[in-house]
Amino acid sequence: MKDFIEISNLKKRFNGFEAVSDISFSIKSGEIFALLGPNGAGKTTTIRMLTGLFKPTSGFIKINGEEISNRPELVRGKLGVLPQENAGYAHLTVKENIIFFASLAGYKGPEFEQMMYNYLDELDLRDFSDRKFGKLSGGEKRAVCLVRAITGHYKAIILDEPTSGLDIARAAKTREIIERLAKQGKTIIMSSHITSDLEHLADRCGILKKGELIFLGDKDELIASFSQKGTFEDAVIKAFKVKGNGSSKEPITKRSSLWSRFRFPKKKDDHSS
Ligand SMILES: Nc1ncnc2c1ncn2[C@@H]1O[C@H](COP(=O)(O)OP(=O)(O)OP(=O)(O)O)[C@@H](O)[C@H]1O
Ligand SMILES: [Mg+2]
Repeated sequence: MKDFIEISNLKKRFNGFEAVSDISFSIKSGEIFALLGPNGAGKTTTIRMLTGLFKPTSGFIKINGEEISNRPELVRGKLGVLPQENAGYAHLTVKENIIFFASLAGYKGPEFEQMMYNYLDELDLRDFSDRKFGKLSGGEKRAVCLVRAITGHYKAIILDEPTSGLDIARAAKTREIIERLAKQGKTIIMSSHITSDLEHLADRCGILKKGELIFLGDKDELIASFSQKGTFEDAVIKAFKVKGNGSSKEPITKRSSLWSRFRFPKKKDDHSS
């Protein structure tokens, strides 16, 4: 499959602080790509650049072949987006919120209302459709924002911590929906701190640390590269301990490149296992 999203040498600086440092990677149509990293690693900042909310300091983003970094209007309304913070019009109902956002993206009419109701049913939210958004619990708001992000015929869907705050049943249903959307050919980028979101869902992942892309690859490569125990969670924890090398141009993608960093570490490198 072809690359649907291409990110080249992307950087974001806030008043001299570099939140995202020169990262490059591509994502194929129908792929579920996970962004991982410790708090403050730059995941949300990267997602905000992808969705046109932040202008990159430098670098390029191409979506479906179109360069969008300096033309956010090309992506606004064309991507399904779930931001990290739940946002919605408090005085509008759940249904009005979802329908309003879908209509802004050009998705109007009975087809999309039905789509919305199907998702609300799946997430056990049907009884909430006429409740005011502002009166919902945190997890209910999260689930409604998720429905809003996926109600439409978006080719790419970007989800910043989709299961954060969801109960176990809604989180499992969310994973099922994400998997189904990818099977329909939609490109999914998600960030998460939840092991079960990442271990069984993501085709590939990128690990950010202090703005640098320190790993790019699939689950097996991640485990082979970082975990002697052979578990996904252990691999992620070990990967988070890797020191950046001051350049994101060469993330670890293979076991061999890892060993060059791990087996013969410099004196102060943290490589405990
Ligand atoms: N608008 C901003 N102005 C200044 N600094 C910012 C801004 N947005 C983010 N940052 C800083 O950039 C860094 C990366 O933040 P970001 O929100 O991308 O992290 P994250 O990886 O999404 O973390 P988390 O897992 O906690 O959501 C943080 O140190 C943060 O304080
Ligand atoms: Mg974040």
